[in-house]
Amino acid sequence: MALLRIQGGSILNGEISASSAKNSVINLIAAALLADEPVTLLNVPHLRDVSTMIELLGHMGVVVVINERMQVDIHANSISSLKAPYELVKTMRASFNVLGPLIARYGEAEVSLPGGCAIGTRPVDQHLKGLRALGADIEMKEGYVRGTVSGRLKGAQIDFDFSTVGGTEHLMTAAVLADGVTIMENCAKEPEIENLAEFLNVLGADVRGAGTSRIEIHGVERLHGGRFEAISDRIEVGTYLIAAAASGGCVGISNALPQHNAALLSKLREAGADIKVEDGRIALDMKGRRPKSVNVVTGPYPAFPTDLQAQIMTLNCLSQGSSSIQETIFENRFMHVPELARMGADIQLQNNNSVALVQGVAELVGAPVMATDLRASASLVIAGIAARGETTVDRVYHIDRGYQQIEERLQRLGVDIRREAS
Ligand code: EPZ
Repeated sequence: MALLRIQGGSILNGEISASSAKNSVINLIAAALLADEPVTLLNVPHLRDVSTMIELLGHMGVVVVINERMQVDIHANSISSLKAPYELVKTMRASFNVLGPLIARYGEAEVSLPGGCAIGTRPVDQHLKGLRALGADIEMKEGYVRGTVSGRLKGAQIDFDFSTVGGTEHLMTAAVLADGVTIMENCAKEPEIENLAEFLNVLGADVRGAGTSRIEIHGVERLHGGRFEAISDRIEVGTYLIAAAASGGCVGISNALPQHNAALLSKLREAGADIKVEDGRIALDMKGRRPKSVNVVTGPYPAFPTDLQAQIMTLNCLSQGSSSIQETIFENRFMHVPELARMGADIQLQNNNSVALVQGVAELVGAPVMATDLRASASLVIAGIAARGETTVDRVYHIDRGYQQIEERLQRLGVDIRREAS
């Protein structure tokens, strides 16, 4: 196992470029199973979650070739197994989303139920309800979901009970090869969903309305091959912007899509950052100022993303004043709180642990801390950068799921950080 050792007190300064969005790319890889010709994904980020998805396809006999420019070629025609085993699905829930494409294209699949995860129970009831509406027979057996359909799936009306990103994406990929029209209502509107629809349409699908609450899918006979590059990673971008703000620094991030970070940018301006947005670039300058506390309520896009909640909490820990942070998406996404408290943060949890009241402190003090999940670990790295003294963040494998070359990028921005074996 590895840890990150950070000497605190650097002020971030410099320029980096955003990666392609992890949460888009892993769905594009699952969707590539639908195509009967090779699919090429460009500029794929070097991340553990992406490797897990590629490993899963490889396990199923799909030919996946990666070159040194991180171009990934996927040809699903060689598939020899329609089973996604527990060992792989348990390490990354999103791999459950191969179920729909496999049923749609091959008429059957067996995929492990993902089980709970650190940030919440995360059921898949909406996914299964939608697949049944499309005509799949779904059975649960020994921890696996077995889905079958005789002939093709049938277009249907699917009304989500609430906004689900993965559910919307999963059912979109199942419905593209269905017979007839599928109307999905109350869909999630995250940019990654629109990106997936664009990808499917490049391969010959007919998906309309992605990015709105109503998506209409006209089923087609087959999907052909194609080339595609995912949008940039708004959560990676947001994490570096918050890190810069927490350190009082000044950074520019190119290859960004500022419109996808509107809720965060508005909070960072409220916290006192000067932000300039140009075509594809976000520049943040904190001018050495101490941030002001900002209240945050997470919610489905375009509201403030739950995936940046831990990071903004670190900013609030160091800010002038007090703030409340309400988490509305996951029931257990405050695991960074006890770790931040070990560094001197003043945080009280309330309302059945759904609200954190943060009283800003003049400084955090470096300490050994433990990463518990991907975004929690990012919040601890930010705390370590801003803290006085040395911080070690253990269990770095969490951070490697979603941030490529984090220590190289932070070093480039002036942070004293290195990776060591723990
Ligand atoms: C996606 O997870 C992201 N993952 C998460 O990113 C992100 O936190 C989340 O959306 C919310 O934005 C990927 O895109 C791969 P949901 P997902 O379905 O699709 C409940 C990160 O850090 N629910 O929108 O799993 C669920 O338990 C990660 O990169 C059901 O009850 O999220 C949650 O409380 C982690 N039944 C809420 O809905 C269902 O059938 C929203 O989940 C589906 C979901």
